[in-house]
Amino acid sequence: MKLLLLLILYAIALSAAFKRSGLRSRTASSSGATGRRPTRVLIIGASGGTGRQLVTQALERGYVVTAFVRNPSKLQIVHPQLQIIQGDVLDYASVEAAVRGQDSVISALGHKRFFYPTRILSEGTRNLLRAMESQGVLRFVCETSLGIGDSVGRLGIYYTLFIIPVVLPFYFWDKTRQERLIAASKVEWVIVRPGMLTNGKKRNTYRHGTTVGSFIWTVRISRADVADFMLNQLTDDTYLRSSPGVCW
Ligand SMILES: NC(=O)c1ccc[n+]([C@@H]2O[C@H](COP(=O)([O-])OP(=O)(O)OC[C@H]3O[C@@H](n4cnc5c(N)ncnc54)[C@H](OP(=O)(O)O)[C@@H]3O)[C@@H](O)[C@H]2O)c1
Repeated sequence: MKLLLLLILYAIALSAAFKRSGLRSRTASSSGATGRRPTRVLIIGASGGTGRQLVTQALERGYVVTAFVRNPSKLQIVHPQLQIIQGDVLDYASVEAAVRGQDSVISALGHKRFFYPTRILSEGTRNLLRAMESQGVLRFVCETSLGIGDSVGRLGIYYTLFIIPVVLPFYFWDKTRQERLIAASKVEWVIVRPGMLTNGKKRNTYRHGTTVGSFIWTVRISRADVADFMLNQLTDDTYLRSSPGVCW
C-alpha cells in the first residue's frame, strides 16, 4: 500500500516536472530566426479548425496565402492576399498545382474517419512532399499530435490508456506513418505536436519543446496558439528537422 502511494506521488512529481519543462513563448519567437521571410505560404486543411486560424494569422502577418480546400464555401475568409485553390491531398495533380510557386507549406490536415484504417494523412503528406521536392519548395511545417514517436504518453493517462488505443488507434498509426515520411524527406521540416485542441482564444503564451506534455493530465492548447507557433516555424530554425510539442 505504502509502495503504491509512493509510486503515485512519484508519478505526480514527475508529471509536475514535465509540465514545467519546455520553453515558453510570449510573442513570435526569434531566437533561431533565419532572417529569411518567405512571403508565399500554402495552407493545407485551411477550412479546418487550426487551418482557419492559420489563414487568418498568416494574412495578419502579411503573407500571401494560398488556402487548399476541398470545399471553398467552408472557408468564408475574403482578403486581397488570399487565393483559394480547390483540391484534395489524395489527388497528386491538384497538390502539385497548389505547391507550384510557393515559398513554404503548412499542413493542418485532419479528418474524423476514426473507426477504420485510412491513409489520408500519410498518403496526402506523401503527395505534398513529392510535390515540394519536385518544385524545390523547402519549408514544411506539419501539425500532428503529442502522443506520437518520442512523445508517447505525453498527452496524459486518459489519452494514453483509453482514447488512443480504443478510439484512435487507426488514426494514430496513420499519423505515425505521416511523421516517418516527413522525417525521411529532403525538405526543411518541423513537425508540431499539440496537446488536446480547444477553440479558445489566443493567449500568446504557451510551452513548446520536446519535453512538454504530461504523463498524467490531459494537456491542452487552443488552435489559435498552435497556429501562432506553426507560423513562427516558417522563419525560425530552432526546431528544424525536429518535432516539438506545444501546449499551455
Ligand atoms: N482534436 C484534437 O484535440 C487534436 C489534438 C492534437 C492534434 N490534433 C490534430 O491536429 C490537426 C488539425 O486538427 P483540427 O481539428 O484543427 O482540424 P480539422 O478541423 O479536423 O480540419 C482538418 C482539415 O483537413 C482537411 N482535409 C481532410 N481530408 C482532406 C483531403 N483529402 N484533402 C484536402 N483536405 C482535407 C479538412 O477539409 P474539409 O473541411 O473539407 O473536411 C479540414 O480542412 C489534425 O491532424 C488533428 O488530428 C487534434
